[in-house]
Amino acid sequence: MRKIRKAVLPVAGFGTRVLPATKSIPKEMLPVVDRPALQYVVDEALEAGIEHIVFVTGRNKGAIEDYFDRAYELEATLHLKNKTALLEELESKLPAPGSTSFVRQQSPQGLGHAVWCARDVIGNEPFAVLLPDVLVKSKPGCLSQMVEAYQAKGGNIIAVDPIPENETDKYGVISPKSQDGNLYEMSAMVEKPAPSEAPSNLAITGRYILQPEIFKFLEEQKPGAGNEIQLTDAMAKLMEASPFFALAFDGLPYDCGSKLGYFKAVCAYAVDHEEIGEGAKALIKALNTSS
Ligand code: G1P
Repeated sequence: MRKIRKAVLPVAGFGTRVLPATKSIPKEMLPVVDRPALQYVVDEALEAGIEHIVFVTGRNKGAIEDYFDRAYELEATLHLKNKTALLEELESKLPAPGSTSFVRQQSPQGLGHAVWCARDVIGNEPFAVLLPDVLVKSKPGCLSQMVEAYQAKGGNIIAVDPIPENETDKYGVISPKSQDGNLYEMSAMVEKPAPSEAPSNLAITGRYILQPEIFKFLEEQKPGAGNEIQLTDAMAKLMEASPFFALAFDGLPYDCGSKLGYFKAVCAYAVDHEEIGEGAKALIKALNTSS
């Protein structure tokens, strides 16, 4: 079985749900406590053994490339001021030279199209996709749990979690066929079904392990929900040709693409933070009792 070495992170979206904050800052760079949301997702990928990250970017996303590069003036200034701990922190977050690639999605044609844009860098090997809008708080990380399931089962694996039944039109939703522990086999998956048509309340969370055959289906995929080329539609075809599982992972997902989801993520990461955790808990408690 081939190791999952590469991960695709689609970061080309405009972030319209959190405008105007995202007018000049990529939504993936919005801070969750003291680091960009994107850093948590990169850390999740690295923890799962990923060796190379392919960012699918677009115009106005230069801040992402700069963030994963050296900042000589900043480092020189910190050095002069003997801010060793900060320097070490920056150094520890720097990807290994040559371990990142940036490809451009030239027009917003959907998630399926974004993943397809990474095909040449991925080549003919299984790979992961992590949607940076979604932060998953769990130990081990969501992708590590998926890699463990992949090592046992092979094929393709997506992460799923239960959502309120009236929110199915925001997600890809699966139709489970059978269950073995926390792994489902599926009979269908559908992108953003109306609640009356949803086959279940199990939503695709934004973490995927896919075989490279997906690129063939993406290449031929016609636009679907929202008139966009949907990854879910291509996966539904791949599912007929290759083993496919859904993992009910252990952990809590936060959708940072929405205002409330982002706020929840900030709170959830703040209360666990080494430096400000106690203060954050006290503040939330005080707000709760004063309302
Ligand atoms: C995408 C996927 C969807 C998935 C969701 C998770 O939708 O297309 O299947 O459930 O991410 O956040 P988007 O949020 O990009 O509309």
